[in-house]
Amino acid sequence: MDKFVIQGGTPLVGFIPTSGAKNSALPVLAAALLTADEVVLRRIPRVRDIRTMVRLLVDIGSDINVNGETVTLKTPKIVSPEAPYELVKTMRASSLVLGPLVARAGRARVSLPGGCGIGARPINYHLSGLERLGAVITQDHGYIEAAAPNGLRGAHIVFDRITVTGTEDILMAATLARGETVIENAAREPEVVDLANLLVKMGAKLEGAGTSTIRVQGVTELHGADHEIIADRIEAGTFVIAGLMTGGALNITGCIPEHLGALTAKLTQAGARISQPDSTTLRVEPSGTLRAIDMSTEEYPGFATDLQAQYMAIMTQANGISIVTETIFENRFMHAQELQRMGANIRLDGRKAIIAGKSQLSGAGVIASDLRASASLVLAALVARGETVIDRVYHIDRGYERIEAKLSAVGAQIQRVE
Ligand code: EPZ
Repeated sequence: MDKFVIQGGTPLVGFIPTSGAKNSALPVLAAALLTADEVVLRRIPRVRDIRTMVRLLVDIGSDINVNGETVTLKTPKIVSPEAPYELVKTMRASSLVLGPLVARAGRARVSLPGGCGIGARPINYHLSGLERLGAVITQDHGYIEAAAPNGLRGAHIVFDRITVTGTEDILMAATLARGETVIENAAREPEVVDLANLLVKMGAKLEGAGTSTIRVQGVTELHGADHEIIADRIEAGTFVIAGLMTGGALNITGCIPEHLGALTAKLTQAGARISQPDSTTLRVEPSGTLRAIDMSTEEYPGFATDLQAQYMAIMTQANGISIVTETIFENRFMHAQELQRMGANIRLDGRKAIIAGKSQLSGAGVIASDLRASASLVLAALVARGETVIDRVYHIDRGYERIEAKLSAVGAQIQRVE
């Protein structure tokens, strides 16, 4: 298992590029199942989760060519409408093939995701949405069977709770359902909008993506398309925080600043110096010691839960007490105890973490847990005194493309050890 060895204390200076969004790449790859035509997807990040999704799609029946960040898919027919446990247990986002398989092949057999580090993460809203569209859902031996032998029909669907991949699953299924589908309480994340833009290029008829209500007029079939996905706002946000924590002058390039509004507003409130030199760059400058500011995660456009661990890391370096509230997942503070081992002063109280700063962090041996928790450990290691060794970095490789190469290029003393 790879490890990262990091010496803290070097300010990050220069230009760091943003990759395509992992959480856009996953649904748009699944969307390719909706047509027999060729789909070309560009700026696909080279991360573990994408390799997992490609393996799943090949098993389902896609011919796939991966050429750098360009992935070309062609699914002449669905050979096996299944997502087996051994793949789903490594990546919950496998449930994104549910909607496309039922819509294209009339049936799907997808393993239930099972537990995940950050919470139970059931897919009940995906399933109830598919039932509303006319699928018959049964469950046995840890698998979900969804069947719609006569096709899907449009419906009025109201999500009890905002769900990103739930919205994406149902949106994809609805594009081939007979009649109109209205999705209410839909997720408004930029990745949902990116998926919708691809679907429209493929011939889908829909409006309202990015708002809470999406209307879809079903069509009989979709055709091929060529689509470049959006930049990864979570990766870019992670680098914004890295620049501020290390007191460097760092330009995060190839990003979409308006997708990071909640983060930049919160950090600016804390005293950070953040500017936007051009439409695809965020620049941070040395800002001295920040003020502690409370934060609560919310669905987009609120503060992203995927940046909560990274925000906790920078709040350990701020003056004062800050309270971080995690409203989306029930167990997303696993990074707290690792940060404590590095000298952070954090107290957990249910969905709240109380951080008392500023702490001088010291390097330690730590273990990565979930993807974003691991990113917060890298951030802490960049400012800690001495050496930090982070084990199980495969968690980081799931969602960050060559993070050690990108950070080294702007001055970080980080290396990957086999
Ligand atoms: C997506 O996960 C992202 N993954 C997550 O990013 C992100 O943290 C999350 O949205 C929230 O923004 C992808 O897009 C591939 P949800 P998703 O459905 O869709 C509960 C990362 O680090 N829920 O919006 O699975 C659920 O348990 C990952 O890149 C149900 O109860 O999240 C959670 O508490 C981590 N039943 C809340 O809703 C359901 O059927 C929001 O989950 C669905 C969700």
